[in-house]
Amino acid sequence: MKNQNTSRWDFGRFAKTITYFDVIPFLGCLQRLYQKKQIKRDKNMGIILVAGATGGVGRRVVSYLVKNHYPVRALVRDKVKAEAILAPEVELFEGDITIPETLTSQLMDRVSTIICCTGTRVQPVEGDTPNREKYYQGLKFYLPEVVDTPEIVEYRGIENLVKTAVDSKSLRVGERLLFDFSNPTLDLKNTWGAVDDIVMGGVSQSSLRLVNQSGLFLGNVSTANSGGFASVRTRNFNPPWDLSPYEGIELRVKGDGKRYKLILRSEGKWDGIGYCYSFDTVYDFWQTLRVPFQDLIPVFRAKTVPDAGYFDPSKVYSMQLMLSKFEYDGVLNPKFQPGPFSLGIESIKAYGGKPTPQFILISSAGVTRVGRPGINLEEEPPIVRMNDQLGGILTWKLRGEEVVRNSGLTYTIIRPCALTEKPGDKVLLADQGDTIKGEVSREAIAQLCIEAMERPEATNKTFEVRETRDKGTTNWGNLFTNLS
Ligand SMILES: NC(=O)c1ccc[n+]([C@@H]2O[C@H](COP(=O)([O-])OP(=O)(O)OC[C@H]3O[C@@H](n4cnc5c(N)ncnc54)[C@H](OP(=O)(O)O)[C@@H]3O)[C@@H](O)[C@H]2O)c1
Repeated sequence: MKNQNTSRWDFGRFAKTITYFDVIPFLGCLQRLYQKKQIKRDKNMGIILVAGATGGVGRRVVSYLVKNHYPVRALVRDKVKAEAILAPEVELFEGDITIPETLTSQLMDRVSTIICCTGTRVQPVEGDTPNREKYYQGLKFYLPEVVDTPEIVEYRGIENLVKTAVDSKSLRVGERLLFDFSNPTLDLKNTWGAVDDIVMGGVSQSSLRLVNQSGLFLGNVSTANSGGFASVRTRNFNPPWDLSPYEGIELRVKGDGKRYKLILRSEGKWDGIGYCYSFDTVYDFWQTLRVPFQDLIPVFRAKTVPDAGYFDPSKVYSMQLMLSKFEYDGVLNPKFQPGPFSLGIESIKAYGGKPTPQFILISSAGVTRVGRPGINLEEEPPIVRMNDQLGGILTWKLRGEEVVRNSGLTYTIIRPCALTEKPGDKVLLADQGDTIKGEVSREAIAQLCIEAMERPEATNKTFEVRETRDKGTTNWGNLFTNLS
């Protein structure tokens, strides 16, 4: 008679699992070639909002972000114009910083960082070409005039944008959004796959579905054929994630009263040591759970490995969520029951990191020189000399800076010297005290913004910047660390 606790094993599903996860790498490559799917990894740190994205600096900031796979939302005044300038993957949001009604809460939805490159429109008195070549080329001096009112753009506009950000409460400090199941992307679907006890002869079945603005790890777990676990696991991150600046992983989940495990791996092997943490869920209730890296237990094939040491968050290769009959070393999961299960997942974040800038503002060198005692205006750049004729542009830029500094948001305020359209291949020099003069390419300023974005040492700093004569790469770590 057939043993009641045996069922027909599904070789097809087994083969699919090992192929999906590249357990036999060659097969995985073939499959992906066949499917023509490119596995591209998002930076998953939340959306980066770029204001002034159609401008000389803004469009370059967007281009760097896109190249590095950051999700980007561009705040633009004219979508049609923006479509012609920006890459198609950029999400466009039509709005005007001087019109608060256009800055709705959706603008800040899931935004982690704002890079603000807006500025009062300046043009030669004699007029510019449609693509603003005279303004951009920066070689010849054209007598400038402002088109908009600096008070409205540089001060009130910044005030409106900052207020929208603060009110939204979406910009959280010291955390990194790793998986946002409330906003599913193709990338998310291509990253997670089922690993059930089929890999050991069992018949449990699970999947990760994306429904109703959340992920759902659901299936049926069976103890037939000596099985008893179902799980979903990510493909290996390539390169592995460096989560060493953080304390642990935060899960936002809605369970069914069962006990699940989170498993992280700091090696690329399919069958290596997994670092586990068991967590209990409450039936039909959203919970925020924090899993400190140091509380993860090293486990190899369900047996603990006390000598393995602490989990190394500097190279996180994969993540896994599991429902298993067993806890560790043969002990049973006290909340386990065979049958259907479901775990809703809204997000997976890294928490406990040092603050990085939430608001990066492009201001201007010279903002504190206007009216400074002892200043020789003859030796100052035109923007300082002509501040009054230009509607007090620097005066209002300084007021805008103050709004950012007093907002409670973490910030970096970059004050470039004269902007050029040159390649941006020179080493940058940053300084404080607002005395330096010179020029700097828009390309280099865009890169500086991206570098500041993820660096705690750039947080809450205001500084001027110009190019040196030396070609080469700037040591970004030193540039920020040397500033007070
Ligand atoms: N030129 C220099 O030598 C120099 C030196 C130091 C600092 N800066 C400052 O550096 C920043 C970037 O310069 P840039 O050359 O990239 O400037 P830009 O090309 O003139 O770009 C300004 C951007 O701001 C946007 N903008 C203006 N008013 C807006 C509003 N009310 N709402 C939303 N967006 C608005 C513009 O959008 P539209 O495309 O819709 O007009 C444009 O995308 C500016 O703040 C500038 O003042 C310039």
